[in-house]
Amino acid sequence: MAGVEAGAKAASGDTIADELIAALGADCVFLGDDIPASAISDESASGTQRPLILLRPRSVEAVSQAMKICSRRGQTVVPQGGMTGLAGGACPRATDIALSLDRISGVEAIDPDAMTMTVRAGTILQVAQQAAEAEGLMVPIDLGARGSCQIGGIIATNAGGSNVIRHRMTRENILGFEAVLADGRVLSNLHGMVKNNTGYDLAQLFVGSEGTLGIITRAVMKLKPLPAGRHTALCALADFDAVVRLLQHARSELRDLSAIEVMWGDYFALLQDLEGERLFHPAPPIAVIIESESMEPHKGAAEFEEFLAAMLEQQILSDALIAQSVREAAIFWAVREGDKIYHAMPNLINLDISIDIGRMGRFVLECVEAVKARFPHVRALFYGHAGDGNLHIALDMPEPGNDHLSHELETIIYTKVQQMGGSISAEHGIGTLKRDYLRYSRSPEEIEVMRRIKIALDPQCLLNPGKVV
Ligand code: LAC
Ligand code: ZN
Repeated sequence: MAGVEAGAKAASGDTIADELIAALGADCVFLGDDIPASAISDESASGTQRPLILLRPRSVEAVSQAMKICSRRGQTVVPQGGMTGLAGGACPRATDIALSLDRISGVEAIDPDAMTMTVRAGTILQVAQQAAEAEGLMVPIDLGARGSCQIGGIIATNAGGSNVIRHRMTRENILGFEAVLADGRVLSNLHGMVKNNTGYDLAQLFVGSEGTLGIITRAVMKLKPLPAGRHTALCALADFDAVVRLLQHARSELRDLSAIEVMWGDYFALLQDLEGERLFHPAPPIAVIIESESMEPHKGAAEFEEFLAAMLEQQILSDALIAQSVREAAIFWAVREGDKIYHAMPNLINLDISIDIGRMGRFVLECVEAVKARFPHVRALFYGHAGDGNLHIALDMPEPGNDHLSHELETIIYTKVQQMGGSISAEHGIGTLKRDYLRYSRSPEEIEVMRRIKIALDPQCLLNPGKVV
């Protein structure tokens, strides 16, 4: 490859790598051992193949040029963001080109009057959050992976996170967008209007499309006023019915409720041990983090404490610890976000599903029973965003490396989800890992329409092949 100059015209008969180097520059095209392991798999660890080429373009124009070359050659492309997903949605095959957006990063503009941010796809969420905070504003999306996930990936997967009960999913926080299509054309409508009824909402079509319809390159996001304070408590509850009652009260009585996160006792016990904490000892049957944001810290704190006192009085809570500092709140959140779970469960299958809150308690009991009946040694730990009806399920692989058994275990859970009218993916998308189960949550007609949209935008099926549909 040496000697091919950036910008030089590739001669016919050159390989696709030659052509991409000529168009993008050698420093944007990585081959063989120069491709880092981070391009092989997301956090599901389901990716095993090094892509043919890794591209790290520096501009939207370069993404467009790359897609023109790939589409002419019928070359498949897997867009990659921060690789923090759990559905295998960004994992390439050995024949795919991976295209990382990491160099197309940075906040381009913040409009404090309209309360919007124009941001490039490769921007790390935390960087966008800090930029908004510097203007007294807030990005309404927050996820445990904030330090490594990228805006483009968040949009492509319609990520949720811990504040959805107050600020909704990513979908509801996106106004304008830009994406490079499979044929290299740039679809750009970076508007910041809340009201814009000019035909089909194409931005919304791309939100949650998991890189199968186009490569998202920039977006305009809604911002919100930065709260002056957050009030956080860790609560102990006797059973899941108490969670349902807590949620009912919190929704109507806690004006600025921003999170209700649930942990079943065995998850909580394991994670507080791994964090080296003894917050509740012994662990209660259920632990809940409840949080509110407020613009008036003193008034907010008083309301929050009164609310918890009332819940203790009504015996909905059996105990509550109120965080006295940002550091203490961070400890509660570290237990919930559970980054250390891999220390205890290195061969983890992490599922995320949605289920009506009224059925969630029974769902968990029935899942545990069904899993134990078939796989007595598999641990099934439940936690998640109770306020949104979203559960995460951490399972040991029945036999590491045995995909057949893992599939059987997943089928047990997804069958229960289907029976109870839930969704097999709440936050992390379909990717490859849930593709066989899409029909558990979507009808044949819906899947057929999805396929038609896919073919209309990407007739050669070059973008993120084998994902979603
Ligand atoms: C969480 C990720 C797994 O909520 O979605 O921790
Ligand atoms: Zn989550």
